[in-house]
Amino acid sequence: MENAKPAGRLAGKVAIVTGGGSRSDTEELGIDHATAVLLARAGAKVVVADLSAENAQRTCDEISAEGGAAPAVTADVSDAAACDAMVAAAVERYGALHVLVNNAAAHGKGTVEELDEENFDLNVAVNLKGAALASKYAIQAMTKGGGGSIIYLSSIDGIVAPYSRGVPYSLTKAALQMLAKTTTSDHGRQGIRANCIAPGHVQGAFSGRTMTPQRRELHKNAAPLGTEGTPWDVAWLTLFLASDESRWISGVTIPVDGGLLAVAPLRMYSYLTDTELV
Ligand SMILES: NC(=O)c1ccc[n+]([C@@H]2O[C@H](COP(=O)([O-])OP(=O)(O)OC[C@H]3O[C@@H](n4cnc5c(N)ncnc54)[C@H](O)[C@@H]3O)[C@@H](O)[C@H]2O)c1
Repeated sequence: MENAKPAGRLAGKVAIVTGGGSRSDTEELGIDHATAVLLARAGAKVVVADLSAENAQRTCDEISAEGGAAPAVTADVSDAAACDAMVAAAVERYGALHVLVNNAAAHGKGTVEELDEENFDLNVAVNLKGAALASKYAIQAMTKGGGGSIIYLSSIDGIVAPYSRGVPYSLTKAALQMLAKTTTSDHGRQGIRANCIAPGHVQGAFSGRTMTPQRRELHKNAAPLGTEGTPWDVAWLTLFLASDESRWISGVTIPVDGGLLAVAPLRMYSYLTDTELV
């Protein structure tokens, strides 16, 4: 779905994609990158905000090369002043803000018994507080323009206990689902919609850092569809939730996981082991 054309589905919209740079330490690009590129292809002006100025600029250069508009902003979303400045930059440049995609994420490690305080605090600061702070300033700007759409990148790891045992990550990804509900409940009358996306085992920059061929094969086979998920699969849902096509959808979490959450693990046993159970 990388080359499908989204026409003008976001024409006239201004969007911020946090974590919109691509990691430079992997060959693969991330969901964040695909999202920024797809929203721009759909006609949105996309402000790409990332901790890494270089990576944000790389995404922007690609969008510009396709004829889109995308300024880069360096922002640490765990910092309130940075979130305020990020939203102000979008409004100053384009006069409004309609879409916020909360992509920026830190990675968790360990079980609760192994809890590493520093990693725990980082996950809370970036994944949860960062998304809430960015939303705070975005809601103020969106309300002035009659409303907007906020999208939180949760994870299947925030719905079921993850096999990677990254407890701080899972806890924050679960909390984002409640943030979408409270934002809907508290700000719906301001025209604010808020939804969560829960990606499954997508092959991309995020997972690519620790990927082995065996693990990649397991990711593919663990879900009923038996095909590999890509960052584009997630970006297409983000586009829908960002657009007015989803104008009556708010407060929900939608998995993009090849059907993984729909089945009992033992149903998939034969696909993972070549052994029939029944
Ligand atoms: N890839 C997957 O399989 C998968 C699965 C489930 C959920 N997700 C979620 O989807 C989203 C995008 O995933 P991805 O694979 O593109 O991730 P990624 O790791 O490639 O990108 C995360 C981005 O966030 C940026 N970032 C980190 N800390 C930041 C901070 N404090 N302020 C601003 N930016 C910061 C990084 O520089 C990076 O560009 C993430 O929220 C991730 O948790 C991904």
